[in-house]
Amino acid sequence: MNNYVDALAAPMKNNGTIKLYGADAFAGMRKASRLTAQCLDELAAIVAPGVTTRQIDDFVFGFAMDNGIYPATLNYRGYTHSCCTSINHVVCHGIPGDKPLREGEIVNIDVTFVVDGWHGDSSRMYPVGEIKRSAERLIEVTYNSLMLGIEAAKPGNHTGNIGAAIQEYAESERCSVVRDFCGHGVGQLFHDAPNILHYGRPGEGVALVPGMIFTIEPMINLGRPGVKVLADGWTAVTRDRSLSAQFEHTIGITDTGCEIFTISPAGYTIPPYL
Ligand code: MF3
Ligand code: CO
Ligand code: CO
Repeated sequence: MNNYVDALAAPMKNNGTIKLYGADAFAGMRKASRLTAQCLDELAAIVAPGVTTRQIDDFVFGFAMDNGIYPATLNYRGYTHSCCTSINHVVCHGIPGDKPLREGEIVNIDVTFVVDGWHGDSSRMYPVGEIKRSAERLIEVTYNSLMLGIEAAKPGNHTGNIGAAIQEYAESERCSVVRDFCGHGVGQLFHDAPNILHYGRPGEGVALVPGMIFTIEPMINLGRPGVKVLADGWTAVTRDRSLSAQFEHTIGITDTGCEIFTISPAGYTIPPYL
């Protein structure tokens, strides 16, 4: 039903075919993703009340320059920053700026580095000082959603199994799944086929086979799932202004399951990152 093609023989552009990658690509993705994860680890010590998201963005840019690598978002489709910083009811694609973070806020930082042509894409939630129990719970539910999706990412399953695992759990926790943004194939392209929906049913979508590489990046809301994009053309917010959280990993399908490329070298999972 779906078209898969050996990534080495495929045209680079996203023409809807699903690329299957070999050992060299997996090694490239491992290296790129590790640097992304290391940057996210280091950001744990930087996020604090009074810090601006521009300072966070400057750190990500500096990290990239220090390592001779490139932030994929910089000059991507007109975006001019090295990461996305999505605060509170911002669902994704928050633009770094000069407003200081305040105690009690939660912020997602989404970083993608290009290393030797390979893209490592990951995001995590960071609490700003002490946060409310409801925010803490949303962060836990969102992290668990991602990890349940990852558990479903294995040969024999379809992309729909990933979405179903996430949706079933998140909704059982009285949270909602954002429909307007999805995970994506990734590799030498930032955004490639297939789309990875964070809702759905088992058996729907694309069959998962060894060699596929993609992100899973559920956005989970405390309120209703609806989002709108602000006039800046990027910032997506919940329509009901309820709190939203997201975690993202880049993974590769193996013979027995999947490899998480963007796993934290420091061993961080959910905050507090100690
Ligand atoms: N890193 C985001 C993702 O997970 C994409 C950000 S694109 C940008 O796919 F242009 F908004 F930066
Ligand atoms: Co992504
Ligand atoms: Co991302």
